[in-house]
Amino acid sequence: MAQRLLLTGAAGNIGRDLRIRLAAHCQALRVSDAADVGPARPGEECVTARLEDAQAMDQLLAGVDAVVHMGGVPEERSFESILAANIVGLRNLYEAARRHGVRRLVVASSLHVTGFYRQDEVIDASVPPRPDGYYAISKLYGENLGRYYFDRFGIETVSLRIGSYRVEPLTRRELSSWISADDMERLVLASLRAPVVGHTIVYGVSANTSSWWDNRSAQHLGYQPQDDASAHAARLNALEPTLDLNNPATVFQGGLFVLNEPL
Ligand SMILES: NC(=O)c1ccc[n+]([C@@H]2O[C@H](COP(=O)([O-])OP(=O)(O)OC[C@H]3O[C@@H](n4cnc5c(N)ncnc54)[C@H](O)[C@@H]3O)[C@@H](O)[C@H]2O)c1
Repeated sequence: MAQRLLLTGAAGNIGRDLRIRLAAHCQALRVSDAADVGPARPGEECVTARLEDAQAMDQLLAGVDAVVHMGGVPEERSFESILAANIVGLRNLYEAARRHGVRRLVVASSLHVTGFYRQDEVIDASVPPRPDGYYAISKLYGENLGRYYFDRFGIETVSLRIGSYRVEPLTRRELSSWISADDMERLVLASLRAPVVGHTIVYGVSANTSSWWDNRSAQHLGYQPQDDASAHAARLNALEPTLDLNNPATVFQGGLFVLNEPL
């Protein structure tokens, strides 16, 4: 396990939870975000930094063994903000990782890179991408950056195509896409601990009975999800008893994202 682990996006939804859960698995946890992450807890180093600031990223990566990257724009927003955080910022992060000899990154991608596959099909990470917006395209760029930095420099990446991270699934669609906080912790730890990952793409999803995603190509990670959204099926099916199959948000895996206009 890493001696010094860097967690970006530590002020965000997933980052706040991982901050607590990862602390026990490293000697020092460096937590960073553009937003305030509050005071350092025992074993922590807190750094306020913007991804698009190359110098700040260089300082942030110094002395780090591994990175869990949750920072960035998490949905369709202005192209300028996506460009800064997810394109320029990720490049800064990888370049700094290369300069400082970081061996592995675990990077948040998204289900939206395959958002235009239908909800009635099961896909795996080898299918051609079908992104549902510029946010999703920026996540594909991130996956390709991970591929490139492994092929060229031997820096390993696990790209997590995260589904819907919630305390519990909120809609019928999320019966397929949900990932629990406990399974997210299992997935991140598996991604950090697996002996060899090269560049691996894995869907970040719980063991949902109605999952759209086949993770067998990422079996070597040893990720074994324990939670299943189907425990909530009766309640959510009652809330949405009929599905409008003329609505693209119901037809495609990306849900409402497939209706976004570029901003
Ligand atoms: N939450 C989900 O269900 C979900 C689903 C798919 C993918 N993801 C991905 O997982 C990651 C974390 O998601 P989240 O829900 O915690 O998002 P979030 O918005 O809650 O957290 C992201 C954090 O990144 C920080 N950030 C944004 N721009 C930055 C910049 N330019 N420089 C430095 N920090 C910046 C924000 O301040 C925020 O704290 C994101 O990359 C998101 O795309 C999340």
